[in-house]
Amino acid sequence: MRRSPGSLISCLGFGLAALAVGAGPLQAQVSVASPDGRNQVTVEIREGQLTYSLTRDGRELIQPSLLGFEFRGTPPVRDSLRITDSTRQSHNEWWTQPWGEVARVHDHDNELAVGVQESAGLHRRFVLRVRAFDDGVGFRYEFPRQPGLVQFEISDELTQFALADNARAWWIPSNYARKDRSEMLYSSGPVSVLDSVQTPLTMETRDRRTFLVIHEANLVDYARMFLKGTRSESRVLTAALAPMADGIKVRGRTPLATPWRTIQVADKATDLAPSLLGLNLNPPNVLASTDWIHPMKYVGIWWGMHIGTMTWSSGPKHGATTENARKYIDFAAANGFGGVLVEGWNIGWDGDWIANRNAFSFTKAYPDYDLKAVAEYARQKGVRLIVHNETSGGIQNYEHQLDSAHALYHSLGLDAIKTGYVTDLTSEGHSHYSQFMVNHYRKVIETAAKYRIMLDVHEPMHDTGERRTYPNMMSREGARGQEYNAWSNDGGNPPEHETILFFTRLLAGPMDFTPGIFDILERSSGHSRRPDEPRVRTTLAKQLALYVVLYSPLQMAADLPENYEGNPAFQFIRDVAVDWDTTRVIDGRIGDYVVVARRERGGQTWFLGAITDEEGRTFDVPLSFLKPGRQYVAEIYADGPKANWLDNPLPVTITRRPVTSAMRLRLVLARGGGQAIRIRPAR
Ligand code: NOJ
Ligand code: CA
Repeated sequence: MRRSPGSLISCLGFGLAALAVGAGPLQAQVSVASPDGRNQVTVEIREGQLTYSLTRDGRELIQPSLLGFEFRGTPPVRDSLRITDSTRQSHNEWWTQPWGEVARVHDHDNELAVGVQESAGLHRRFVLRVRAFDDGVGFRYEFPRQPGLVQFEISDELTQFALADNARAWWIPSNYARKDRSEMLYSSGPVSVLDSVQTPLTMETRDRRTFLVIHEANLVDYARMFLKGTRSESRVLTAALAPMADGIKVRGRTPLATPWRTIQVADKATDLAPSLLGLNLNPPNVLASTDWIHPMKYVGIWWGMHIGTMTWSSGPKHGATTENARKYIDFAAANGFGGVLVEGWNIGWDGDWIANRNAFSFTKAYPDYDLKAVAEYARQKGVRLIVHNETSGGIQNYEHQLDSAHALYHSLGLDAIKTGYVTDLTSEGHSHYSQFMVNHYRKVIETAAKYRIMLDVHEPMHDTGERRTYPNMMSREGARGQEYNAWSNDGGNPPEHETILFFTRLLAGPMDFTPGIFDILERSSGHSRRPDEPRVRTTLAKQLALYVVLYSPLQMAADLPENYEGNPAFQFIRDVAVDWDTTRVIDGRIGDYVVVARRERGGQTWFLGAITDEEGRTFDVPLSFLKPGRQYVAEIYADGPKANWLDNPLPVTITRRPVTSAMRLRLVLARGGGQAIRIRPAR
């Protein structure tokens, strides 16, 4: 419920300090605190420049940090600023997600809108809107229509994050002029050594008392934000926007609101997830109905291409044949999967498919693949085909076909697409993360929604909470996924990888990591591998645990069907839910381990996933999340005797035992291992 707007600057109610009288560096200062009073943002003018700072329990987390913009052809909005007025309001409401890590979300914040104007020159003005939540803060700039600022080109956003502590950060670089992806391994180190990094940027203060995550929310018609450090002793990170081909970051006209700059705050790493701050800063669902949107598990003609036994291109090893698709559909139907992904079905894969990106057709299939017949066969079996659209960054080529392709898929009864953007710069020369691409990804979401199609985006724009407004925006990649375990030249993802993803990439939103490789040694690839060659660096039990730990409403069983057949551990993948009422992070340390419990949407069955890095670990997990007095059965998939990721990854021990909320479960995880548990009410 939105309360009536609060008062102007004359109100002293919310920690508003007085306007300083006369000259002096401090001219005006206004503050807003979160509902629990712990997080407080102060906005103030210092020597004519606008700054904000953040404290928690009175302790400084972000020191006064600059706000402002540079433009092409007109002076920056940065100097001679004064605060003209401020207004306040509060929000306190619950809303329900059509699907998600939790069903109900509490949007509870205090908002402060600060009017700012240049006291010289063009007298341009804007509003800095700040929202303080118990789990962090967000702020954005809003430029109203005004004579001094009509059309403009932003050459830099000057927003800074001056960290009070030389916190430890987990980061991937943002090489946005070249390799335009987010598929890298994480490093960690103090903020003072950071160069250019991606968000979400997760940090832990040196005293381990506070966790901070810088990210953004509601990225619309603007450029993606990266963070640039100085690599000196300074702890100041500055917003760095991804450029278009001509170097301009944002072309806009007033009125314009920037994305929210968000700083999530928590006392413990386990309080960071599920991360809902960004969702609360996105507009509510705009789709008239969401009954056609359904989280699901899927299989696909996919891993075979990555391990080299099939090809996307035509020829003797072509994966996407009608016959092969039928086999996968049969397998999906027999095991309760909702979808079957087929890659390499459409014309354009022959030769160098990255260079030849404008040759992709999104409607014409290879002669050995009958799209219509496959779609119909799937329908008869109660399964849906997931269409693959790899663009290689050929944006014009894709946009020309966007509507007709979606119309075709819809006419065939299909309701999910996996898109892909394997590229460095787009065909137009823009950064993968530029305003141009932000608008492109949005166009695809809207077109898909028009045709009632769900999206799974690979090489995506990073997630800034679009799924709240467009719940057909289901999942995305946007980090190093399982595919690297098939072919990367660095031996694949190390055992700690997923324990970092959980506290970094996954805080932005769901990830299509594609878990579930059972052929850990990749024997199906046909060649035996040396230990340093790519292979899955987990135990098999950990692959199961990833279904619970790495949240995605579209969750793949990534391996070849023949690698599942006859393996009793496959039962867990058949059983595991993909949509949740509740999520509890029971234990975790970034880069070391995670233990998560989730209750399935609309049911009483819980799933527990625990993963560890290269160290073996034991956890005693209280089952207090279960309903008291109720009898449950725990179906436990644990690392088997002597299992470990390096030389004995396959043994899994499956046991069953009665449990209640009063009990604790002892989880023993092997090195690089995991454990997956289904806890269902006893019959
Ligand atoms: C990269 C994607 O992440 C992967 O899933 C896909 O198979 C290939 N591109 C081909 O589009
Ligand atoms: Ca990828």
